[in-house]
Amino acid sequence: MLKRILYPKHRIGLETLKKNFEGKMVVITGASRGIGYELAKTLIAAKANLFLIARSENELISLCEKAHESGCLATYKAIDLRDRDALDQLCIELRQIIQVDYLFVNAGKSIHRKLLDSIDRLHDFDRTMDLNFRSLVALSFALQPSLKSTKGKIIYTSSISTLYPSAPGWAAYHASKEAANVWCRTADAEFATLGIKLKIAYMPLVHTAMSDVNEVYKNMPAYSAKEAADILIYLALNSRHSYMPWWARISTPIAYLISPIIRFVYRHLF
Ligand SMILES: NC(=O)c1ccc[n+]([C@@H]2O[C@H](COP(=O)([O-])OP(=O)(O)OC[C@H]3O[C@@H](n4cnc5c(N)ncnc54)[C@H](OP(=O)(O)O)[C@@H]3O)[C@@H](O)[C@H]2O)c1
Repeated sequence: MLKRILYPKHRIGLETLKKNFEGKMVVITGASRGIGYELAKTLIAAKANLFLIARSENELISLCEKAHESGCLATYKAIDLRDRDALDQLCIELRQIIQVDYLFVNAGKSIHRKLLDSIDRLHDFDRTMDLNFRSLVALSFALQPSLKSTKGKIIYTSSISTLYPSAPGWAAYHASKEAANVWCRTADAEFATLGIKLKIAYMPLVHTAMSDVNEVYKNMPAYSAKEAADILIYLALNSRHSYMPWWARISTPIAYLISPIIRFVYRHLF
């Protein structure tokens, strides 16, 4: 019951999906598992053509096979998006695609570690920035001409937690996600002349490999990966600039008002 209230579904019927995605070219990062995997499967059912990106090659191959069986065009690139040379090569490859309708930038990495435990771990900040922020910028620049040709959309999977006062332990993850949010909002203004829209999904908790490593999160109500994928599609198809659950619209201004109390709690209890 609590889950149904806090996590309402945004399911879109197959006919509507087909009407909007059949024959369209969609690029997805983080397609090998979790939200991105479910997104790819839903778009295969809608007969979209896919370019799938992640590190796990076997999962990408199997998704491409599913897509081919359904009559879609599909290809993949198994790549670590933090590897700058490999990312440059991917961008060269992506520039060859003449038309792209949607770019879902969804690959992500979260790290929970207090700053005083991170003194010798500068690489935590490099890897979150490189994956969660820098790859968004690189891929958006590479695909900008082909997105312009279709008046396409870039949809970024961000986190609802960036909307609240910064919580201890999450500096690397939140800083990279917030950098991406700022970039998306700026690019949405600057790319408007090209007809390209940028959209941010401020995603709440989703049960995936990423969140379920945390025992507390594992037992909390949350979206499933499929339900989260439906949210990305819902956002891609509606006219809004961002998605956040209804309760975030109410609680974020309240959290801002009581932020001195929240900061006090963070300083003394964590
Ligand atoms: N789960 C949540 O509660 C939650 C909440 C808010 C926002 N989000 C965001 O949602 C997005 C998807 O997360 P998820 O929950 O579906 O996590 P997930 O199940 O861990 O999936 C992450 C995806 O990103 C790919 N990836 C990770 N590191 C990569 C790298 N270095 N290079 C290329 N691809 C990489 C993974 O594929 P490989 O391992 O095969 O590379 C996988 O496909 C992330 O951006 C995350 O920040 C999640």
